[in-house]
Amino acid sequence: SAAEKGGYDYFMLKEIAEQPKAVADTLLGRIDEAGRLTLDEVRIPDHVLREVDKVVIVACGTAYHAGMIAKYAIEHWTRIPCETELASEFRYRDPILDQRTLVVAISQSGETMDTLMALRHAREQGAKVLAICNTNGSTIPRESDAVLYTHAGPEVAVASTKAFLTQLVACYLVALYLGQVRGTKWGDEIRSVIRELSQISTEVEKVLGTMEPVRELARNLADKNTVLFLGRHVGYPVALEGALKLKELAYMHAEGFAAGELKHGPIALIEEDLPVVVVVPSPRGRSVLHDKIVSNIQEIRARGARTIVIAEEGDEAVVPYADHLVRIPATPTLLQPLVATVPLQVFACELATARGNEVDQPRNLAKSVTVE
Ligand code: AGP
Repeated sequence: SAAEKGGYDYFMLKEIAEQPKAVADTLLGRIDEAGRLTLDEVRIPDHVLREVDKVVIVACGTAYHAGMIAKYAIEHWTRIPCETELASEFRYRDPILDQRTLVVAISQSGETMDTLMALRHAREQGAKVLAICNTNGSTIPRESDAVLYTHAGPEVAVASTKAFLTQLVACYLVALYLGQVRGTKWGDEIRSVIRELSQISTEVEKVLGTMEPVRELARNLADKNTVLFLGRHVGYPVALEGALKLKELAYMHAEGFAAGELKHGPIALIEEDLPVVVVVPSPRGRSVLHDKIVSNIQEIRARGARTIVIAEEGDEAVVPYADHLVRIPATPTLLQPLVATVPLQVFACELATARGNEVDQPRNLAKSVTVE
């Protein structure tokens, strides 16, 4: 009913709007006054976490994209090797796991059969399993050694939005906590990122306040057949997520690529007026990547692409090559997906509406996939 949707036309719009609160709620009570993480609910003792020598993340769909981003954060802040794998592939390739492996299973519903089978397989091999889940008492957390709940609140729309942002927050918390417990040379950075993370919901709110041009752009592209998404570093999974949203909602051919791969094939797809969304890393910090992406944008634009550039406030280098420029607030590099994903959700939702599609219940899809 209209009341359930809180005055919005669709649950998806309501859930997109709820993201600042979902993010804040997921952080609530997990950062103490001294700015240290306190994840007491994670019942894996610190001495066990100190012994972990490999992290393996398993998930499906959007949750898998959160896991891909987690890999960058975990390896950077903890120096523990981390791999992220689609749950449906993981258990059928005889993965190498033992007591010192921490498996992180990410699932909004907690009922996804592929993810459940992957975690059962991991536990049989002796690995510890930590679930990141949005649904209290669901099967995946019940069968795990520990759980870190995301506090997104119920997500009704089939296309995941607020659950994704809270999965990212939970992944950062796990990465930062592992870093904190083990003590790495990134101690100062970890403390400063925890501070920034505690403020990040305000930044998400700011992005939501600037989305009208994105909606207008989506309406103008409603008759297109293909949209490509490019990103690099943590922007790469964001590009994959943008493409997945568009497939699910707009039923359009959409593909995400790692920008560095462009020259190894995908650039052959570029033609006159093809919309290409580019997620640009911050020009601060890893500025080499930034410069490389700017030349990618230049290259595709020279071949006629219509460039839709998502770039940090104050990034002037992209301006000459952007047909459409979407500004996002400056954040630490690894946290950028929290703000960069929002325009892509709004874009897909508006395109679906413009194409007359059912936003909350896309064809052929179910909210939770309980079959393998
Ligand atoms: C995302 O928009 C999806 N509909 C889908 O990819 C989803 O993320 C996936 O099925 C995993 O679901 P889960 O988080 O409930 O395990």
